[in-house]
Amino acid sequence: MTILVTGAAGFIGSNFVLDWLNQSKEDVVSLDLLSYAGNLENLSSLDNNPRHHFIKGNIGDRELVSELLKKYQVRAIVNFAAESHVDRSIHESKYFIETNIVGTYNLLESARSYWSDLDQNLKQDFRFLHISSDEVYGSLNLTDPPSSESDPYKPNSPYSASKAASDHLVRAWFQTYKLPVLTVNSANNYGPYQFPEKLIPLCILNALKGKPLAIYGDGQQVRDWLYVKDHCTAIREILKAGQIGETYNVGRWSEKTNLEVVETLCAILDELEPKSNGKSYFEQITFVKDRPGHDRRYAIDASKLEYDLGWKPQETFETGLRKTVLWYLENETWMNHDVSGEYQDWVQKQYS
Ligand code: TYD
Repeated sequence: MTILVTGAAGFIGSNFVLDWLNQSKEDVVSLDLLSYAGNLENLSSLDNNPRHHFIKGNIGDRELVSELLKKYQVRAIVNFAAESHVDRSIHESKYFIETNIVGTYNLLESARSYWSDLDQNLKQDFRFLHISSDEVYGSLNLTDPPSSESDPYKPNSPYSASKAASDHLVRAWFQTYKLPVLTVNSANNYGPYQFPEKLIPLCILNALKGKPLAIYGDGQQVRDWLYVKDHCTAIREILKAGQIGETYNVGRWSEKTNLEVVETLCAILDELEPKSNGKSYFEQITFVKDRPGHDRRYAIDASKLEYDLGWKPQETFETGLRKTVLWYLENETWMNHDVSGEYQDWVQKQYS
């Protein structure tokens, strides 16, 4: 059997594909449009792997997706394909509506048509697993309990609104058509292969290049940080044993302010890659204008996943961050390939 992974050349998608091929016997069809944040280099270690098939294409291309589902007799779809950067969604929301909402709708329809024609046994085993975000629950006050699966959706950015809309579509395809869906709402991920527009890889890149580490506003916004490999394990567990139609929150119970994150990063870099002039990376920290509508706090209650499926994260924030920094230090070529052309235009627009 085979699973279809969409957005497979992106950050979480590529980590998942690598993890899946190590941990499972099923083959993988990777589908990715290879837009700016998708990078085939993330999957280059699989070039000669007969269990992996890469296809360049769009989740909204129903003809292509239907053909792939039939050709590879796909047993499950894991949908990572999404525009995911909040700052970009503020500048240009169109792609978020197109990919995250319309794209998911088309993927659901392709899946439904394929699934309805399957034999009874295959039909029972089929799953559509949709990856979403904790941002759909909106911003929490410091004293609020972490968001749980039953909390109302209150998205505040074009990005989170588009993910919320896609989650609702997934839910509706279960309620209305009985398509066997699962939804995963995850905390902020970090780890290898993350495109350097998000806080952690951006700060690693800028720190090494001697550039300012830009902290929006007062830096007291809180996020829960999950090492990407722990997220991959959670997805595998949910795919295996998750209850159809259910939503699972995945988090680390590891809330940090943005300033704490960047300071921890600077301390690790000072130790692992000390500057030749003896100065500290802390000196590069700079406070800049805040993000419009900046959500103050996200925190996620992952107890359902822990109690029902026995999942537990392996990494603490600090051990995961150290592994991440080491990976970026060992993969500077990867980082430098990813930051030419369109990336420079974005940096200019956002940080100048
Ligand atoms: P980000 O990595 O973009 O993820 P998200 O917005 O989905 O949480 O940002 C994480 C936090 O870091 C968020 O509160 C915004 C903040 N941030 C900065 O302070 N400076 C930056 O340059 C970036 C990219 C983010």
